[in-house]
Amino acid sequence: MPYCSSVGNREALNAYFLTCVRASNDINGQSESHHFRKRIMQALSALQIIRDEHASLAAMLQSMRLMVQMGPSDDTRKFFDVLRGMLFYIDEFPERLHHPKESNLLFSKIVKLAPQVMGAVDKLERDHMSSEKAARDLQHLLLSWELLGPSRRTAFEEAIYKYIDFYLEHMSLEESIILPEVERCFSAQDKLMLDEAFAENADPLTGHYPPAQEFEKLFSMVVTRAPSPIGLG
Ligand SMILES: [Fe+2]
Ligand SMILES: [Fe+2]
Repeated sequence: MPYCSSVGNREALNAYFLTCVRASNDINGQSESHHFRKRIMQALSALQIIRDEHASLAAMLQSMRLMVQMGPSDDTRKFFDVLRGMLFYIDEFPERLHHPKESNLLFSKIVKLAPQVMGAVDKLERDHMSSEKAARDLQHLLLSWELLGPSRRTAFEEAIYKYIDFYLEHMSLEESIILPEVERCFSAQDKLMLDEAFAENADPLTGHYPPAQEFEKLFSMVVTRAPSPIGLG
């Protein structure tokens, strides 16, 4: 069963999210050497990287859901800062790196090798095309709530719950239909090319890679300012 749909426990996902961030910090503390990074990259298959990226994204999405359900506390600035940081991460990482590689390297090839997945690929491609805009729209709706007040809260809440459900379903479809076919149909050489391409993603939230310097500040802001049980704030 796909990880992102098999773990329904919200607390577990939030704990996972936190563990990923801590692990990424530990890795960063241990070594920034090229050899260390290369060793990790060689050890992971593309399919494992995709599943790990899904798991970290699912954890982020469930953390966002919990944040919105809890609502702003007295410190509204903290609430909006954390949610903005989470939305920015989704816009910055999965939308720009994860999805394009799936579309270009996975989907285009698997429909030729296993035509029966055409319907699923069609839906997933439409999802990829619409989700970047959805992430931007959410950032705008959040800003509206922050700057214009509670009258804009419901619009944001409805949109983010819809987005979270949509995203979890999207990843579940990829894991249940596409990845098993890739495993079955791709040649050893195809898989090797895929492994190299996905290793370059190096999503720090999976816990396997040190965060790039520009992400460090973002993660530590999210973890230290998000309220318990999501973060340490
Ligand atoms: Fe996707
Ligand atoms: Fe995906």
